[in-house]
Amino acid sequence: MGTKIVGTGVYLPKSVLTNFDLEKMVDTSDEWIMTRTGIKERRIAKEETITHMATQAAKEALKDGSTSPEELDLIILATLTPEKRFPATACLVQAQLEAKGVYSFDISAACSGFLYGLDIADSFIKAGKAKKVLVIGAEKLSEAVDWEDRSTCVLFGDGAGAVLFENSEDESDVLATKMYSEGSLEELLYADKCGYIRMKGRELFKVAVRSMEEVCREVLEKANVKPEEISLVIPHQANVRIINALAEKLGLPKEKFYVNIHKYGNTSAASIPIALHEAIKEGKIKRGDLVLMTAMGGGLTWGAALLRY
Ligand code: ACO
Repeated sequence: MGTKIVGTGVYLPKSVLTNFDLEKMVDTSDEWIMTRTGIKERRIAKEETITHMATQAAKEALKDGSTSPEELDLIILATLTPEKRFPATACLVQAQLEAKGVYSFDISAACSGFLYGLDIADSFIKAGKAKKVLVIGAEKLSEAVDWEDRSTCVLFGDGAGAVLFENSEDESDVLATKMYSEGSLEELLYADKCGYIRMKGRELFKVAVRSMEEVCREVLEKANVKPEEISLVIPHQANVRIINALAEKLGLPKEKFYVNIHKYGNTSAASIPIALHEAIKEGKIKRGDLVLMTAMGGGLTWGAALLRY
């Protein structure tokens, strides 16, 4: 039995914050942000709560997968900006969806959160404990950003992405996954006492490239797939320079890496499901293609998943 993607959805707040807007807020420039990160603009949730964004993305994924909320067996929501300390945002989304009684919980793995969720969903499905699992990555990072700290406030954005997984009998499947955590590296990226994101960008950059390269090679080896067989890589969108360095390390052309960071910045747990949704809708991934996803984030956490779409 395999695990298949049957639907995807996104929610992106309407309000756009450009680099030029940021120039008026902190000592920065469009040129610095573009050359150092590849980001041009990001979305900022004004009225929207994280529950609203996650619910809208979930509804679109369910519609895309012709599934009703009550058919779900499990809802997993990855975020570092939950609505409340408790209940889990996943439970608030479950209520909004009217997915009566569906088993729902949050996971906290920062930018790797969606891949952690995918790994859990795949395990539940392959163990026969669930048939239909919704994995949501949603973030309201505008609330976790210190808008006076130019080294972080230019990097992040808000949004949500959702993916509906189902047990499959055809060749579509999650072929290999591998996740890691290393809490001793916490000081590279964490939330301070006020809840603001603090980061040692230069050190994190090097760790990000090295750890994602290693974990990508590990899943490829596990599945006996060569890098050149991959149709598309969906990397976490933290910095276009990290993505380009990863492409070089894996010996793959940049064109094989999906990039939308210029539009949304780093949306942490939402970044991979948003990119996956756009890549599918733009026809960049077709049934049967091999797709590699990888992320690294606070924890530190990192991981990769290889699937046949
Ligand atoms: N505008 C203008 N100048 C700036 C800005 C800004 N917004 N921010 C920093 N600078 C200055 C610094 O003060 C420094 O000045 P100095 O040389 O006079 O000291 C200079 O620019 C260079 O700063 P660096 O931090 O060395 O810049 P770098 O090239 O490393 O780029 C960046 C910074 C973009 C943060 C990069 O290091 C990076 O992307 N790191 C990794 C981020 C990452 O992997 N995140 C993933 C996880 S995120 C999550 O889990 C939530």
